[in-house]
Amino acid sequence: GLSNTKEMFKHANENGYAVPAFNFNNMEMMQAIVEGCAEMGSPVILQCSTGARTYMGKETVPMLAMAAVKIARSMGSDIPIALHLDHGPSLEAIKDCIDYGFSSVMIDGSHYDFEKNIAISKEAAEYAHKFDVTVEAELGVLAGVEDDVVADEHVFTQPEEVEEFVSRTGVDSLAIAIGTSHGAHKFKPGTDPKLKHEILSEIETKIPGFPIVLHGSSAVPQEFVATIKEFGGELKDAIGIPDSELRGATKSAVAKINVDTDGRLAFTAGVREVFGTKPGEFDPRKYLGNGKSKMKNYYKTKIANVFGSEGA
Ligand code: G3H
Ligand code: 13P
Ligand code: NA
Ligand code: ZN
Repeated sequence: GLSNTKEMFKHANENGYAVPAFNFNNMEMMQAIVEGCAEMGSPVILQCSTGARTYMGKETVPMLAMAAVKIARSMGSDIPIALHLDHGPSLEAIKDCIDYGFSSVMIDGSHYDFEKNIAISKEAAEYAHKFDVTVEAELGVLAGVEDDVVADEHVFTQPEEVEEFVSRTGVDSLAIAIGTSHGAHKFKPGTDPKLKHEILSEIETKIPGFPIVLHGSSAVPQEFVATIKEFGGELKDAIGIPDSELRGATKSAVAKINVDTDGRLAFTAGVREVFGTKPGEFDPRKYLGNGKSKMKNYYKTKIANVFGSEGA
């Protein structure tokens, strides 16, 4: 069945890699993720946002996650697979996901003040742990778009706060803000995006070995942007987090890195390519299949170039 993230993160941090957390919105994206990860021998966190859960339906999401486990096993792979709620907004949402079989949840109190964030994160951890479900919380605010919430300003995580936060809440992992950003419009082309590696190092000295999570880590691959535009799409010119900025972080206590946008761009590029080159095509298997295959190949490359989780 599904695994929580406890052993995954322990193994990742003992062995100097990070577990990929890839968002999915439909069956083909789930298949792309699990086939890619099984072929690479990488553990994987299937990540589902509130919006994705509404879209797929709460009955369908756990069925797709269980199917992912069966797909991996049928491929002869024993990789651990978690089903994780991304950016859980409330205790109610977390309870509902646990009722429906999620093995891991995030409680996102990052927009609250420190005390309120501690209070709801602690409540979430106490509840989830009764069901052997692991909990991620967040301290600091990312720039970019999360569901409908737009954060204009980065508020980097303050290293002085992390020890108190994790000990008072009892959460299993901590998402931090060190310069990553959600969405496809992270940075202006021609800039040289850098993460605050010194903040990460300082955080690690405060909570040694504690699993750290990076959100907003898509690279916004320019080949997909170009394909999307070539076949009629419209996207603002933007770049993302370079692989080189993340690679070193995986060797530290960063145990989970979230990528959603890159998968969406790969998938969309694949669909647009078929619509653009074969305007007579109306078989969904052809255009969704090409989206799926671009997404899968991209994630395999990302695992090799960034996560270091292959064969783990
Ligand atoms: O961090 C947000 C994720 O990319 C999920 O996006 O709410 O549009 O599914 P979504
Ligand atoms: P990206 O928008 O960079 O893919 O970030 C995804 C994320 O943080 C999901 O929680
Ligand atoms: Na790591
Ligand atoms: Zn996120």
